[in-house]
Amino acid sequence: MELIAGVPLLFLTLTLIATSQASQVEKPLPIHPLRSAYGSGHDHHLHGISCASWRLGVEAYNLRDWKTVPSSCEAYVGHYMLGHLYRQDSKVVVDAAALYAQGLNLTKDGKDVWVFDIDETSLSNLPYFAKHGFGVEPYNATLSKQWVDTGKGPALPESLRLYKKLLSLGFKIVFLTGRQEVQRKITVTNLKEAGYHTWEKLILRSPEDTGTAIAYKSSKRKELEAHGYRILGNIGDQWSDILGSNVGQRTFKLPDPMYYIS
Ligand SMILES: *[C@@H]1O[C@H](CO)[C@@H](O)[C@H](O)[C@H]1NC(C)=O
Ligand SMILES: *[C@@H]1O[C@H](CO)[C@@H](O)[C@H](O)[C@H]1NC(C)=O
Repeated sequence: MELIAGVPLLFLTLTLIATSQASQVEKPLPIHPLRSAYGSGHDHHLHGISCASWRLGVEAYNLRDWKTVPSSCEAYVGHYMLGHLYRQDSKVVVDAAALYAQGLNLTKDGKDVWVFDIDETSLSNLPYFAKHGFGVEPYNATLSKQWVDTGKGPALPESLRLYKKLLSLGFKIVFLTGRQEVQRKITVTNLKEAGYHTWEKLILRSPEDTGTAIAYKSSKRKELEAHGYRILGNIGDQWSDILGSNVGQRTFKLPDPMYYIS
């Protein structure tokens, strides 16, 4: 009887504390019981797991080989991608990359390179994904290719900022992408249109470049180093951009909760 009667009192106390919280800082309170008083704060849930926790699992490379965004997280991922947080998270990455680049002592023999991935790193496919469930819909090669062939991918603003900074510091830029060689022309057009005007190399997948992204990108980076290039930095939105061999002196991972490439 006492326990049952105590429940509403506990809730009332927590609610009052929560309400007064904003006006003055009180003694520390246990976090978990208070959470319900604050509401869900736009977060969504996947089998009782927060979509924010799912996203962290993805970014930290704890969740791997996932095929699609859980459908219950579509609104969450959409909100993340179109809201301020995606941009802010990207800014943190780019600020760190710029600071690191600035502190390097370049040889300036034309061999200091920075590797950029393209999709969701240099160019955004968000206009496409916004129409296709932000990664909830299974990958559709035909529709994806149609979108890429429009050449209308906008630059990721933070990545473009890094690109310009690196050029001003004397880096050479190498684009290394999983896009196919047949998409070279439209990719060149799109890159230039989006503000990426110059580069040392643009490497796309040839028909003989089979295998995972990790294997393909590792072998291309190995070739670069065999030609005397020093990969001082490497940035991508997929772990497969920055894992494997010859990854570069330092790697940077941009956020991407929409798809997974192994
Ligand atoms: C940069 O490299 C040059 C040439 O090797 C060297 O003289 C100089 O001390 C280096 N500076 C820093 C800050 O490492
Ligand atoms: C891709 O999308 C098109 C157009 O909606 C559809 O006709 C086709 O069946 C889809 N392909 C796959 C593999 O889902």
